[in-house]
Amino acid sequence: MTAGGATPRIDAVAKVTGAARFEGDAELPGALHAALVGAPIASGRVVRIDDAAARAMPGVIAVMTHASAPPLARWRSPLTLQDPAVCFLGQPVAVVVARTVAQARRAAAAVEVICDPAPAITTMHQAQGRAYAPATAGHVAADSRRGDPERAPRPCEIARRYTTPTHLHHPMEPPFVVARWDGDALVVHATTQAVFSHRQQLADCFGLPVDRVRVVSRLLGGGFGGKGRAWFPWMVVCVMAARHVGQPVALELTRGEMFTLIGRRQETIQDLRIAATRRGELTAITHDTVAPTSVYGEYADPTATVSRVLYACPHVATTHRLVRIHTPQPNPMRAPGEGPGSFALESALDELAHELGIDPLELRLRNHAGHDQHTGLPWSSYQLGACYRVAADAFGWQARPAQIGSLSDGRRRLGWGIAGACYPVYRMASHAEVAIDPTGRVVVRCGTQDMGTGTATILAQLAAGALGVPLGQVAAEIGDTGLPEGPYSGGAHVTASVTPAVEAAARTLRRQLIERAVADPGSPLFGLAGADLAIADGRVTGGGRSEPLAALVARTGGLASTASAAPDPTPGTSSYAFGAVFAEVAVDPELGEVRVRRVAAGYACGRILNPLLVRSQLIGGLVLGIGMALHEVAVTDERTGRVVNANLADYAIAGHADMPRFDVALVDDDDPHLAGGVKGVGMIGTVGIAAAIANAVFHATGRRLRDLPIRLESLLM
Ligand code: MOS
Repeated sequence: MTAGGATPRIDAVAKVTGAARFEGDAELPGALHAALVGAPIASGRVVRIDDAAARAMPGVIAVMTHASAPPLARWRSPLTLQDPAVCFLGQPVAVVVARTVAQARRAAAAVEVICDPAPAITTMHQAQGRAYAPATAGHVAADSRRGDPERAPRPCEIARRYTTPTHLHHPMEPPFVVARWDGDALVVHATTQAVFSHRQQLADCFGLPVDRVRVVSRLLGGGFGGKGRAWFPWMVVCVMAARHVGQPVALELTRGEMFTLIGRRQETIQDLRIAATRRGELTAITHDTVAPTSVYGEYADPTATVSRVLYACPHVATTHRLVRIHTPQPNPMRAPGEGPGSFALESALDELAHELGIDPLELRLRNHAGHDQHTGLPWSSYQLGACYRVAADAFGWQARPAQIGSLSDGRRRLGWGIAGACYPVYRMASHAEVAIDPTGRVVVRCGTQDMGTGTATILAQLAAGALGVPLGQVAAEIGDTGLPEGPYSGGAHVTASVTPAVEAAARTLRRQLIERAVADPGSPLFGLAGADLAIADGRVTGGGRSEPLAALVARTGGLASTASAAPDPTPGTSSYAFGAVFAEVAVDPELGEVRVRRVAAGYACGRILNPLLVRSQLIGGLVLGIGMALHEVAVTDERTGRVVNANLADYAIAGHADMPRFDVALVDDDDPHLAGGVKGVGMIGTVGIAAAIANAVFHATGRRLRDLPIRLESLLM
């Protein structure tokens, strides 16, 4: 049981009144400020850095370059000023430390970086033909094969290329770090999605035991994947600068730097071939993806994996290939892989449905996957059919005319489109403590982070529910390596990972409190059988008697309990969250403008701890998908490697005026095989939606748009 149900975030009032303290809001007594100096070329070497003018500027304390930076024990990379190589335009090659932020930034602009440029390949199409197979795609094998797709019968076939562009993480809160050295001990307050991994990596860099490093990240103003591995090198640079000057140093990235220094969703070229019988039963799918990676790192989104599992099909082959280019390293961005991958798969299915003259919903239902055909395992639970039913009913899909271009509202053409969605359940080991102090206040402690999604609230609700106290009596302590180790924030896995640990710790505490009550002669429950007692609403109750927990602990002292949970390394079932998304668009035939008018979606995401937060997460994911369909694209100047639209006026994101009516239904999805029953909701909202919109645009106009974002000029009639 979860206390509070659809309760608002416990930090909601603090956030909306501005009282909440983010790491970058901290008072920084004695701290200096850093600013980064970016390389002026996309490929080559730094020959010399002329910092004389910068050093003479007001407030400047130091300028550190690869020539003066201390050697690191690990992460010896050009990114951490260990080497003069330049791998992308804007790569930090020096850091200025000054008394104020303004002084540091002014001086950084005055540093002259003299380079020896080498030929740069800055876009994927310049590197065509040089694709190679990466070690993995996300967490899974880069290639898959079942059956024999080339020999499968193909009475009807769709073979198309779909593309998605580079997307950028733009959390509201810019990345920030302040580093303090105390002898050989290091304390870092930072915007990080991963306090424990970053503690380990910082310890590795500086050759320290992990217990000499503390990383704190208590509140995050968003992340989307941009406060993880791509941001880490600049944290290291700040920590090095603090050691170099012997004082605490803070670094906050500018909004402009966020266009290059916190990673990017890799663009994709996806070749889809789907074959089916005339009745619409899929016979073969091949899904081949090419995407860029940097020259200094390797990362591939699991783009084609959605084609491995979402539909029943005997013959399926998927591949992921990378090309190396001189750009910042791509990294996970919300719904990494499944987001862009589902655009291709679900668009191709729509093309197939049209070719066969089968309703797009009916085509999907005919290819229901009764088990995970990629692994051969049964699903731990599977409610995709119910997702389609509730969303179709809410949307009114039955009334959809098959004829393209037959719906209108005034001069606008209307269209309806759908897509299926799935996202794997990822979990990791998690530890948690639930404690009650002598005043009766309950604290749940877990060193995971809250990206703004409501993790702190969920932790408090879990502890309150399993212990039997009102939510208002529970505080959550998170985001600190001084706490029991929790998961990093990503892959929609935090809640699924922490739930069993927090509930186990709270249940143990409940049992211990009951044992105390029956053993304490001062308690009205003294002498009763523990099995007959319960804790509810903050009171131990049974045998017609009861006592407030606060009174019990005031007499007998505080108590704490810890627990750990880890996923089964060899589960007998396959766990995914599923969803179905329906969109209506209106297309202006004279202006080419597309408006998403309404979205109805159904999701089966396991146990729902807080429907308010879950809906909010799912809608947030859908909003990102609307941006993917209609707005977001980072444009790179091929000659220089510069992001041409590196500001939030020209890098368009979906805004309030772009929002449709959302009708999000949560389908009952009791999962008997998952400990804790939670599947996670952070990613799946961004899966499918872009295809549903593109499919709706086709239904409205007959224009099949296979390259995102959908542009006005593609729709002028
Ligand atoms: Mo993420 S893309 O913050 O797992």
